[in-house]
This record gives sequence, structure tokens and C-alpha cells, in this order.
Amino acid sequence: MGRQLLLEHINKPGIRGLEGYRANGGYRSVEKALKTMAPEAVLEEVKKSGLRGRGGAGFPTGMKWSFLAKPEGVPRYLVVNADESEPGTFKDRYLMQRIPHLLIEGMIPSSFAMGVNTAYIYIRGEYFYIARILEQAIAEARAAGWLGKNILGTGYDLEIYVHVGAGAYICGEETALLESLEGKRGNPRIKPPFPAVKGLWQRPTVVNNVETICAVVPIINDGGEEYAKIGIGRSTGTKLISAAGHINKPGVYEIELGVSVEEFVNSDQYCGGVSGGRPLKACIPGGSSVPILPAELLFRTAKFETRLMTYESLSDGGFETGSMLGSGGFYVFNDSACIVRATWNHSRFYHHESCGQCSPCREGTGWMEKVLYRLEHGTARTDDIDLLWDIQRRIEGNTICPFGDAASWPVAASIRHFRHEFEYHATHPTKVKDPKHCEKDPIPYPEKSYAN
Ligand SMILES: Cc1cc2nc3c(=O)[nH]c(=O)nc-3n(C[C@H](O)[C@H](O)[C@H](O)COP(=O)(O)O)c2cc1C
Ligand code: SF4
Repeated sequence: MGRQLLLEHINKPGIRGLEGYRANGGYRSVEKALKTMAPEAVLEEVKKSGLRGRGGAGFPTGMKWSFLAKPEGVPRYLVVNADESEPGTFKDRYLMQRIPHLLIEGMIPSSFAMGVNTAYIYIRGEYFYIARILEQAIAEARAAGWLGKNILGTGYDLEIYVHVGAGAYICGEETALLESLEGKRGNPRIKPPFPAVKGLWQRPTVVNNVETICAVVPIINDGGEEYAKIGIGRSTGTKLISAAGHINKPGVYEIELGVSVEEFVNSDQYCGGVSGGRPLKACIPGGSSVPILPAELLFRTAKFETRLMTYESLSDGGFETGSMLGSGGFYVFNDSACIVRATWNHSRFYHHESCGQCSPCREGTGWMEKVLYRLEHGTARTDDIDLLWDIQRRIEGNTICPFGDAASWPVAASIRHFRHEFEYHATHPTKVKDPKHCEKDPIPYPEKSYAN
């Protein structure tokens, strides 16, 4: 097991409460930042750490903070994105539920660095019980002087509020989230202006993922350079991976970025191997919005001897042979999984969750669902595969927000790598009506040549 910067204390007794958290070194980063560092120095450490946003896009956090507009006399905001609605992702829930003070602690030096005095945690409606846990942690922190006015006698003020959403995937997209936080329907905004210039109530705002903000704690405690020593290249530090599907040990794992995919799937420290003793068919490495990769592209690529769990290695080869680390929602499929069925299932989700503002997304997600339904239920024709390809291509890049891409990339990748399964579905209508057809009679993966 690599270094555990976020999960080290997660199973300690009493860690959810302030006393237990303090007993394990909690809130040290606040003392250090507020008493011994200038806001610019905190920002500098985050830049040095190389930390990249853990919400999906992997944008460098220090750079994002430095873009924040700072007009005189105008409040600015930090908004923590705790929507965690990406299917396959459940790491933020784990942090907030088990060790809520880690997030509260991370928000203090982060807000201090950006000159923020009011911060929000936007949490999805389904996590209502976690919102209560967070509120309790905030009340404890406030009573102990870690929040509120004149924190630790330094003259710095910070209030944190928890806002519960109504439960919509699109409210994880940062501008839809801001609309929702303002009390409106969660429709994404056209960018620019970006939130760093006009965000919450048209004020400069930074939106960061829960895990990103939690990572600020070890960065301040140990220094940005120490953090950057973990990992490979531009993928520094540790990352939480939510592992699910056909594996022996599903769960949330903290990996040092750079561990190989093979080790992650097979090692007992992590997933413990593919379940059922069956061969690995494919993985979706970064949540439902990223391309699926077949087994033969998971352990080896043109550039990398073995595929690594880093932003660069997972995207190596572009979408022809690569995918993305995304939010770290790691799905594993053994050969009993039907890729057409899995793709149809995701397409139902995206159709349901489209906010409907843009025609390519609103109409296209519906069409993709319809065609995939036909393929899955034995009523498709072979040219439906080309139709599906054509629809997804017309969505990508033609929408207000990246939801359109997120809905179309997985469909494109499934066809790109598993076209033979789509063809099988179109040509064996009676067989595929049995949802367990792949389990009984796996469709062999054709010889491919992703040669070096
Ligand atoms: C459709 C959609 C859903 C998203 N859902 C989430 C989410 O649930 N949590 C999250 O942190 N980011 C989500 N994002 C990414 C956010 O827009 C934003 O990039 C992120 O919160 C920034 O934080 P980071 O820089 O710390 O990663 C989503 C993006 C899109 C397009
Ligand atoms: S891409 Fe889809 S979710 Fe995003 S704004 Fe357009 S219709 Fe809404």
C-alpha cells in the first residue's frame, strides 16, 4: 500500500468528531497557514505540489486559484463541489461521512489563500444524512474557534455553509451548481465569463471538488514539494479511486499516482483480482463519462510498457487507444459483461439527466437511448450501429457544457472497441433477448493490432 495522505486516519475510533480528529493531528494545517504563512505563500505551496483537480477535469488547482479576480471591496467565494453524481464515483461520500473535519480543515487554508470569507459546500440531495454530519462538524469547529470571526486571533474570518441540492447530475457541472446554489434551476451557463471572474452572484468564485480541498491539508502540513515527490510527471500526489464491478474487493482506495493498472486490478492491496475467476474484458477508468478500454489496452500501450494510473498514461493515444483518469470511478468488467447492455444502461442515465438547453444533447441523448434499446432488445438492424455512431458525433463539441461530450464519448468508445458485440446484437436478435447471454456464451474479442 502506498502513502495514505487522506485515508490514513479514516478508521480510527472517534475520527468523525472534533476531539478524535484533533487527537490525530487535525487542524495543524490551519495553525501553520494562518499563524506562520501569508496567503500568497499558501497559494505557492499548492502550486508547487502540482495538485490537479480531483473532480474530473484534472485542472491544476494552484493555477485555478491564481485566476481568481480580486477587485477591491467585492466578496469572493469558495464553493466545494460535493455533488458527486458521476456514476461509479463514491469517494467524496466516504471522506465526508467518515472524516468530515478533513474537508472543513482543508477549506480554511484554501479560503485564506484566496481571500475568501464565505465558503459553501454544495452537496447532492441524496447525501442528506452527510449534510447533517457536515453541519455538525462545522458547528464543532466553530465552537472551538476554527471558524467564525478572528480565527486563532489572527484577524481572519471564515464562515462555511452547507447547501443541499435537489439531486440532479447536471448540478455537478460547476456553473449549473452555481445557478442551483443561487436558488434557480440548475442549468449550465455559457462560458466565458468563467466563475473565477463571475461566479456565485456574479462574484469571483472558485469551485473545487471535495477531494481536491482535502488534499490541501497534507500539502500545507508537509509542503508542496514533499507532495510533488509522490507520483509521476504531472500526476502528483495520491488519488482516491472508487473501484466497483467485477472485482473481489470493491471499495475506495487511495493510490499513489503511478501505480500500474495491472497492480491496481490484481493486487490484494487493492481490487484483489477479477471476480468469478473469469478473464478481464474491459475497464472504465474514470467514471461513466470517460471511454471504456478493452483489457488488451489496459496493461500495455504504445508509449507505456504497462498502463499507469496517471492522467497522462490513461489518456495515452487519445481516444483511439486511451481514456481518462476523470473522477477515479473505476469500473471493472469480466467477460460475462455485455458491453451493449452496459452502454444502453448509461445512455438511459444521460438522457434522463440532460438539462435540455441544447438540442444536440436533449435530442441526441434520447436518440442514443432509443437505438441502444433496439440493439439490446433484439429489434435493431446492422445500420443502427452507424446511426448510433453518427448521433454521438453530432453531439460532441456542439453543446453549452461538457455533459454532451460526457454522454457521447462512452458510446463512441464502446463502438470503437466492441463493434463486434454491437454487430452480434444486430444479427442475433433472439439470443440477445436473454440479458445473461454474455455470461453463458461470451462473445470473443477479435484479433486487434494495437501494436507498438
Ligand atoms: C456533467 C458534469 C458533472 C460533473 N459532476 C461533478 C461532480 O459531481 N463533482 C465534481 O467535483 N465535479 C464535477 N464536475 C466537474 C466540475 O464542473 C468542476 O470541473 C469541478 O468541480 C472542479 O473541481 P476540481 O478542479 O477540484 O476538480 C462535473 C462536470 C460535468 C460537465
Ligand atoms: S450539454 Fe446537455 S446538459 Fe449541458 S447545457 Fe446542453 S442540454 Fe444541458
